[in-house]
Amino acid sequence: MTGRPQTMREVRLRLFRRVLEHCEAGTTDLAPDVMRIDPATYFNQAYFERETRKLFRETPLLVCLSPDLPEPGAFRLFEDTGVPIFVTRGKDGKVRAFLNVCAHRGGRVVREATGTSNRFTCRYHGWTYNADGDVIGVPSEPFFCGKLGPNDHLTPCPAEERHGMIFVLANPEGEIDLDAHLGDFAEEMERLDFARSEPVMEQKFQSSSNWKFAMDTYLESYHLTSLHRDTFAHVFEANLFVLDMFGPHYRFTFPHKGLGKWIGRPEDEWPIDAMPITYFLYPNTIIAVGSVSANGSSFTTHRLFPTSVGEMYANVRMYAINGVQSPEHLAQMQASFDTIKGAALDEDYAVTGESWPGIRELPQGSRFLLGRHEIGVQSFHRNIAQAMQGLTGDKTGG
Ligand code: FES
Ligand SMILES: [Fe+2]
Repeated sequence: MTGRPQTMREVRLRLFRRVLEHCEAGTTDLAPDVMRIDPATYFNQAYFERETRKLFRETPLLVCLSPDLPEPGAFRLFEDTGVPIFVTRGKDGKVRAFLNVCAHRGGRVVREATGTSNRFTCRYHGWTYNADGDVIGVPSEPFFCGKLGPNDHLTPCPAEERHGMIFVLANPEGEIDLDAHLGDFAEEMERLDFARSEPVMEQKFQSSSNWKFAMDTYLESYHLTSLHRDTFAHVFEANLFVLDMFGPHYRFTFPHKGLGKWIGRPEDEWPIDAMPITYFLYPNTIIAVGSVSANGSSFTTHRLFPTSVGEMYANVRMYAINGVQSPEHLAQMQASFDTIKGAALDEDYAVTGESWPGIRELPQGSRFLLGRHEIGVQSFHRNIAQAMQGLTGDKTGG
């Protein structure tokens, strides 16, 4: 097999082959060197404000997957960046995003988290908009206005639907360029066939810590043996990590334990579909495919958002890869979700929350160490530092 993989099966076969090579040799993917980072990148308020603008206002963000807006009229709030936005699918099937701000005098137009409607009415004075964001009703119009001008409608925000994913730029004055943003990661996303999935459950996980400090926990398997000793440590290999980069995005796997038994066995017998694969979609999203479900039949998206320099939450959604197959399947997904929730809240987010007050007190010049096997964490911080370079006043990082 040479060249780029064409199918998910090929991706999985290649990954499995690399996993087995590492198993046999007792090795893992490694970064060239240990990396040191300035803890101030987590707690410096001025840096945080520039970073938030760059990463959450000037970078396309995943709002949801296509099946979350299944039909014309389906809408969903997207207010996680602090910019109130809603997305909706029009009669033409196209997804559009608008500032959730009434053109009349700023009322919040959409107030339900999600739903289906072909018109949106502001409750303040009752102006009504269609899915194109155009005003279609002004109460007492003869007394109010002559004629509305082209800017007297909802303010659009850049939005695009691609590969079964819905992206928004939380900045009405910006432009979205998904080709530039995704690069060849687009092929990876396309292969996952998100359009066929079915959303099943959703929850917010919160932690009193910086959002990047929480994101770090997703990007390495080093902590499994210690922090997750009672949950994941007996399931996954902590010291075998395989990672591929696609610009600032990447794909990685830390496989189930005991795969060594497949060394030397024919490839068509390998349990490639059960191998968990995780995607990091820069700057804030984890897509974990089949990580805890017994047969790889579900995946979760974790979208991390800061609410302040020291407060964050993850919006976690679980989807059935090809839809929910049976009540048993649903029960299995619920159990998987509970496992994820338990580990995230009681272990990952608990450790980030309890550590946070100390980190803020570190003196200038302190450095944290990212090991050669913490290659995903290294890449995350390196890519953010790179994005922040050249922004005025940046005195942290590196
Ligand atoms: S502010 Fe919305 S109708 Fe007046
Ligand atoms: Fe963890």
